[in-house]
Amino acid sequence: MIQKLISQTKRFIYAIPHAGVRFYGLVEFCRGKRHHQDRDYWNDSLAGWASSYLGGTLSIDLRNSVTVLLARQVAPEARSVLDLGCAGATLARHLGPEVDFYCGVDISDVAISKGRENLAESNRSRAVTHLLEVSTVQDYQPSCRFDVIVFNEVMYYLTLRQIKDSIRRYAGFLSPGGVILVSLKDHEMCRCVQAVILEDLRFEHAVLYQEQPARRGWKTVQNRESPAFLIQAFRPREGGK
Ligand SMILES: C[S@@+](CC[C@H](N)C(=O)[O-])C[C@H]1O[C@@H](n2cnc3c(N)ncnc32)[C@H](O)[C@@H]1O
Repeated sequence: MIQKLISQTKRFIYAIPHAGVRFYGLVEFCRGKRHHQDRDYWNDSLAGWASSYLGGTLSIDLRNSVTVLLARQVAPEARSVLDLGCAGATLARHLGPEVDFYCGVDISDVAISKGRENLAESNRSRAVTHLLEVSTVQDYQPSCRFDVIVFNEVMYYLTLRQIKDSIRRYAGFLSPGGVILVSLKDHEMCRCVQAVILEDLRFEHAVLYQEQPARRGWKTVQNRESPAFLIQAFRPREGGK
């Protein structure tokens, strides 16, 4: 009961863009550094609870497919993709023949090794240039511009400040006409993430979906185990703001 009340209050505050961002910023400040900001945490998690992110599940395939379809819709000429927080680089397997360069970056070396294995298998059927690098979203320095930059299910692990800085920095690595794609689950704090993104980027298009393993219905509902996901496409604002 109390838990539900706290959750509803947070949802209400986080839904008010400026108040939510300030409040969440304060929460982050009080919490200090979180365990999920470490490489060791991700190396352990990807060998345990997060192993599904390395490939082979409906959820991951679904997200990758929607991401690729959305990219094709908003940036049909796109040839290069930067995938930040790429886990097992499963997104690369869903790219169409039009894409000839995929770069995946992850904090975890376990993820990147698995990504290399996955891509070695899929490259037997199709020649795409792949580059996989162990680095954080915050530190990675791309060596070229990209047509599509993807932040799928990774912004939860950055602070709002890191999200703001990353969005600005990576927008500088977009090719002309390039897009940034972001997937976020239906969770109250993601309203704040979205508000921060919209300070620098312009919303272009989105797909909202939810898997329904245990119910039939026409509406998305809040569900911890099987949340709704919003995959959004953004472009830099003209004139930088
Ligand atoms: C929830 S998984 C999402 C994987 C994939 N993008 C997807 O949507 O299926 C989060 C991934 O982000 C990576 N990650 C977490 N924090 C990161 C950071 N600061 N920089 C780079 N990668 C990070 C983790 O190692 C993990 O592989």
